[in-house]
Amino acid sequence: MTSFDFGKMAFGCWRLTEPNTASVEQRLNAALDAGLCLIDTADIYGYGDSNNAISVDGAEADGFGGAEALLGDCLAAQPHLRDRMILATKGGIRPPLPYDSSRAYLTAALEASLRRLRTDYVDLYQIHRPDLLTDYLDLAQTLDGFVQSGKVRALGVSNFMPSQIRALAAHLKTPLLTHQPEISLWATAPFEDGTLDICAELSLTPLAWSPLGQGSLLQPPQSTQMKTVQLALQSCAEKYGVTPAQIALAFLLAHPIGIVPIIGTQNPQRIAESARSVDITLSREDWYRLYVARRGEAMP
Ligand SMILES: NC(=O)c1ccc[n+]([C@@H]2O[C@H](COP(=O)([O-])OP(=O)(O)OC[C@H]3O[C@@H](n4cnc5c(N)ncnc54)[C@H](OP(=O)(O)O)[C@@H]3O)[C@@H](O)[C@H]2O)c1
Repeated sequence: MTSFDFGKMAFGCWRLTEPNTASVEQRLNAALDAGLCLIDTADIYGYGDSNNAISVDGAEADGFGGAEALLGDCLAAQPHLRDRMILATKGGIRPPLPYDSSRAYLTAALEASLRRLRTDYVDLYQIHRPDLLTDYLDLAQTLDGFVQSGKVRALGVSNFMPSQIRALAAHLKTPLLTHQPEISLWATAPFEDGTLDICAELSLTPLAWSPLGQGSLLQPPQSTQMKTVQLALQSCAEKYGVTPAQIALAFLLAHPIGIVPIIGTQNPQRIAESARSVDITLSREDWYRLYVARRGEAMP
């Protein structure tokens, strides 16, 4: 069985578009130099982005595949970067359907991802969202086949309910390694809805998407609840002598299960700043203070 050291934080490619003040290579180097070796993309990233649709060779006309194509171009020009990373992608969102986890679709989707990424294999292949028409036995056999073919080294899921993970895991020969739900100081449901518990039960590494709430934790608040959360982040940041963004990441890193935040910033300085969150040790008291600020009322 393939196992990976995913590191403590990962770099996300949802916002990997061009033009940007930093080149794709600069952004990747910033992430890898900061110790973020898990590079997370998806075939859908770039969809609806007219820049990608026009400029990225390999992307489809609607931008689908745009982020993978940008990453693939960069890896083709700088092949040594591939050896430094754990390359993860996802498939199964098929606009406008919206989801398709059938054998025929996923097989074609994986081939297209490999072509755009200009590689023979990905380290981690994740089902992006649960397809409500999934035949779990067939999906498991399809995914096991991907691993047996050598085109995929390890498997994960994203946005699955615990029961859906269990149903898939029951049929897989290759153990799932990761689950990727949204987790942040704004999206706190996984702490109490069984998501982290199923990760513990099946020894899955939780990869947290949008760990800064898509930036909303740092941007002008749109609600009194968000304002309360931001005040708590600010007060904690002053106490620890770091930034609110770093506290928001430290909040996830503090969980003993080992949540790996997938940071989304495309700014090399912010990538480096985010990575330094691993040096912060939040006290249990401060962790709960932040949690309760988001919850809006004391714990029972
Ligand atoms: N599985 C899924 O369904 C799913 C869904 C969504 C995302 N994801 C994954 O999660 C990754 C991260 O998602 P995300 O981009 O939403 O993550 P995020 O880290 O929550 O948000 C990133 C956004 O916040 C902004 N930001 C960061 N630091 C800031 C600061 N100090 N002040 C103000 N704004 C700041 C960034 O802007 P700058 O670039 O300007 O810094 C960027 O626009 C994605 O790349 C993808 O890999 C997965």
